[in-house]
Amino acid sequence: MSETDLRESVAGLFDRSSETYDAVGVEFFPVFARQLLEDVGLKPGEQVLDVGCGRGAVLFPAAERVGAQGRVTGIDLSPGMIERTVRDIRERGLANVTAEVMDAQEPTLPGASFDVVLASAVVFFLPDPVAGLRAWHGLLKPGGRLGVTMFGGNDPRWSGVERVFRPFVPPAMIWAMVNPESPVVSPENFERALGTAGFTTISSVTREYPIAFSGPEQWIDWSLSHGQRVFWEFVPDELQQRVRSEVLDELDRLREPGGGIVMRQVVRYTLAKRG
Ligand SMILES: C[S@@+](CC[C@H](N)C(=O)[O-])C[C@H]1O[C@@H](n2cnc3c(N)ncnc32)[C@H](O)[C@@H]1O
Repeated sequence: MSETDLRESVAGLFDRSSETYDAVGVEFFPVFARQLLEDVGLKPGEQVLDVGCGRGAVLFPAAERVGAQGRVTGIDLSPGMIERTVRDIRERGLANVTAEVMDAQEPTLPGASFDVVLASAVVFFLPDPVAGLRAWHGLLKPGGRLGVTMFGGNDPRWSGVERVFRPFVPPAMIWAMVNPESPVVSPENFERALGTAGFTTISSVTREYPIAFSGPEQWIDWSLSHGQRVFWEFVPDELQQRVRSEVLDELDRLREPGGGIVMRQVVRYTLAKRG
């Protein structure tokens, strides 16, 4: 797939997810966003760029931390995400936040103008992550900080669910997820990519979170509300019902005594500086 096609399909995927993103009653992206802000240590008055801002999991708490003297700029490839986030900015009456449609890999923003660049759960969507990192390096003031989150491995107990989807997933996507040369496949590769892009003082921490679902149906709603939706979209219409019932069967096996399901999510946090 060409870079242009990849961008179009990612933007479309998140347009279709944007209405229910972070809105199905599962505590997910905001948990990692709060920890990222804690790690980066945002200060009042700072100028912040949130790349791939989505529905504002990072954007809104960052705006609170930098206060009225600071500013947070959100950019995202998906017009659907931006439309809804701009609506939320207006409804909250925030004067120190903006959000606009822009490609995070080729941002058209003034160089050396941000104290902090944040990217939560975004880097692995870029066609060329190193090009994105180079661009973000150029947007930071000297001494500016970068904070990134990425997902680690999947919960091994979900292998049954993954097996249901596997026949429909294009081999190129499976390869992209395991390619040992990929800059996002491991903390070591990602730290090397940051060095190549010019960053210094690089450090990574991995944390694991229990993510609670009321039951299999809520897991399915959640999986349709963000990037994982792509796996449902690979399934032809005539097989959707069959796949859904196979997924429900797999998830039933994971129920806890109270009927809910708990998924272990590994998240990698990486911090770096523009020297
Ligand atoms: C998993 S969501 C994360 C959103 C938000 N950072 C959060 O923590 O909830 C990934 C976001 O990255 C955006 N995205 C993917 N590729 C992008 C690109 N090349 N440029 C800008 N945004 C991009 C998607 O549209 C989506 O909103």
